[in-house]
Amino acid sequence: MPIFNRLFYNRYRREAMSNVAGRLLMVGLGPGADLMFLPPAVTAVAAVEPEAAFRRMASALARRHGIPVDVVDGFGESIPFPDNSFDSVYVGLVLCSVDNVAATLGEIRRVLVPGGRLVVLEHVRGDGAMGRFQDGIAKPWSWLASGCQPNRRTVDAIAAAGFDTGGLRSIRRTLVPPPCTPHLQGIATVITPNA
Ligand SMILES: C[S@@+](CC[C@H](N)C(=O)[O-])C[C@H]1O[C@@H](n2cnc3c(N)ncnc32)[C@H](O)[C@@H]1O
Repeated sequence: MPIFNRLFYNRYRREAMSNVAGRLLMVGLGPGADLMFLPPAVTAVAAVEPEAAFRRMASALARRHGIPVDVVDGFGESIPFPDNSFDSVYVGLVLCSVDNVAATLGEIRRVLVPGGRLVVLEHVRGDGAMGRFQDGIAKPWSWLASGCQPNRRTVDAIAAAGFDTGGLRSIRRTLVPPPCTPHLQGIATVITPNA
């Protein structure tokens, strides 16, 4: 994974993480690679991760680097924090893997403060031949890759969950090989009713 990150992902992680600020929740933290890119604007960090081995790895990494982070057991579909707890929520290569994208985004919306930001680095379904290839390979790929779905229309799901997606952009050509390309990256903000 460190080699994979160095070869393919670190440049995207660094750029995406530059958008987080204030009280931050990281959903699906995994072994913690993104902790290396926390900007100074972050004042507190919590994370939700369902896999015990990943929680241990992320906590050990954080300790080694002196990063105070509260890594808790839980799922994106049922985030164990009260409403309005965070200024930023970060999803890095996670919405491809959760069982229920709409429920996860609903929970993220709930724990964000009004006007809070969802910071995104996801691989998503491409257009044209790439999208058709991803549709075709989706089932075997998810068996091989721990449930990862390479053909999710993530920007549509984020919009449907009540976020302004104007700050998200698609990066069509990435260094990451198919089927985990293109990327969706940037910021989605909570749309506050009657704002
Ligand atoms: C591809 S890994 C990415 C890990 C990490 N964010 C990174 O970029 O290295 C997907 C992560 O999502 C986590 N995950 C899977 N289902 C989840 C769910 N329902 N809620 C939260 N996290 C989930 C997995 O345990 C795993 O850590």
